[in-house]
Amino acid sequence: MSLSAEKTEAATQVAVQRCIEPECGALYELNEQLYVCSRCGGLLDIEKPRELIGDALALLDLWKARLGSLEQKDRSGVWRYRELLPFQAESPIVSLAEGNTPLYDGPLSARYCGLDNLKIKHQGCNPTASFKDTGMTTAVTQARILGARMVTCASTGNTAASLAAYAARAELACTILVPQGQVSHAKLAQSLDYGATVLEIDGNFDDAMRVIQELAEDESIYLVNSINPFRIEGQKTVAVELLQQLAWQVPDFVVVPGGNLGNSSALGKGFHELFNLQLIDRLPRLIVVQAEGAAPFARLFGRYEQQAVKQDLPGSFESVQEPKTLASAIKIGAPVSWKKAWRAIMWTNGRVLSVSEQEIADAKAIIGRDGIGCEPASATTVAGIKRLVADEIIKPGESVVAVLTGHLLKDTDYVINYHRETLFAPDAVAGDAEQRRRIAGTLSNHPVNVKATKTAIREALARVQSEHKLP
Ligand code: F0G
Repeated sequence: MSLSAEKTEAATQVAVQRCIEPECGALYELNEQLYVCSRCGGLLDIEKPRELIGDALALLDLWKARLGSLEQKDRSGVWRYRELLPFQAESPIVSLAEGNTPLYDGPLSARYCGLDNLKIKHQGCNPTASFKDTGMTTAVTQARILGARMVTCASTGNTAASLAAYAARAELACTILVPQGQVSHAKLAQSLDYGATVLEIDGNFDDAMRVIQELAEDESIYLVNSINPFRIEGQKTVAVELLQQLAWQVPDFVVVPGGNLGNSSALGKGFHELFNLQLIDRLPRLIVVQAEGAAPFARLFGRYEQQAVKQDLPGSFESVQEPKTLASAIKIGAPVSWKKAWRAIMWTNGRVLSVSEQEIADAKAIIGRDGIGCEPASATTVAGIKRLVADEIIKPGESVVAVLTGHLLKDTDYVINYHRETLFAPDAVAGDAEQRRRIAGTLSNHPVNVKATKTAIREALARVQSEHKLP
């Protein structure tokens, strides 16, 4: 039920949930358990009135001081920025000290892309090794506030692992739906170890997402996929942490992978709020990069670019029926948050593109050579930046941040196969010969079999060092 007319008036004084559809804009109280607008089916945003946030400039000092605090709330890279979140001081926070992720320089990756410098924000350094934790802390806190008995999600693996951990901390029952045989062992192992009930469905992520939304009609089950606006609230704080690490110097571009499109929606909202609070004087351009075989959002942007007169939305959104990519985290054909992500692209004069399996694999290996590493989906960022520099959309001297979303150890099968040159792209054309689908080990670094003698090892080292490839 939406707020009545009088409440709508009063709603300016409290944080609310608002339908993002401009012609609807229905308002709901925070404690209403819904995921989309019950009037029109639109996505929901959380809106916190400026008066409740307080003096924005004073926040800069407060947030800086909290970096040296030992208080649990301050140690979290999400709750440190709690003035921007829709919770009360006494809210029962579920936290694993998430966020606080490093911002690295990636000199080799920069050179590979043709940039003078590249900053890398590694969200894989979160407690469950993916960016999902920054949103899960707020979503599971909200589940506690609502008194949910069970939390649930559909997942390509990382959301599941993250939810399983936070549910365990909150002592909540947790059920996750994953596409059978399409989730990496590491991610599955995490969910099992954290005690979640894992249901493997015979279908892909989009099927799992559809079924779970039907299941969540039951009020005792709380859905925490990124369609849940409380997830987005936590994830938006990454924008704040990043800007604080950059001493509030706005980068020209921030680049993220795109799957279900929650992350891009959240970063867009974060930057937009900082801009509205006048904590930054311009917005970074948000770039979303998808894998070629799972790129419905990039196709939408392609149609937008081709228009002589740019309409805000170039026709309807077309899903990809059978998404295909080895970057299993983003093997998604019907992203639920595309409208929020589109809004973020429009707000920031951003762009969307897709990259090939080979480009992802090589970019991933380069990120590894910087001593950083990531999972395949995250490497779309560096692959995308290289393309945009080649296309002169990004200039070599501009400031660019690539957001890596998952840790290298999330998918070791992929890594080993790349370096052994036994990695094969998915079948783009049915029955396509294996040889044609082989991913070239451009930067492969395969293990060497060697006899256990000093001479054999010396010979092997001399051989390997002369072969060592770097671009
Ligand atoms: N990178 C990684 C490592 C991911 O796990 C995901 C999404 C994305 C990028 C894409 O982010 O969906 O916000 O656009 N993983 C979800 C999951 C779908 O179930 O773990 P997005």
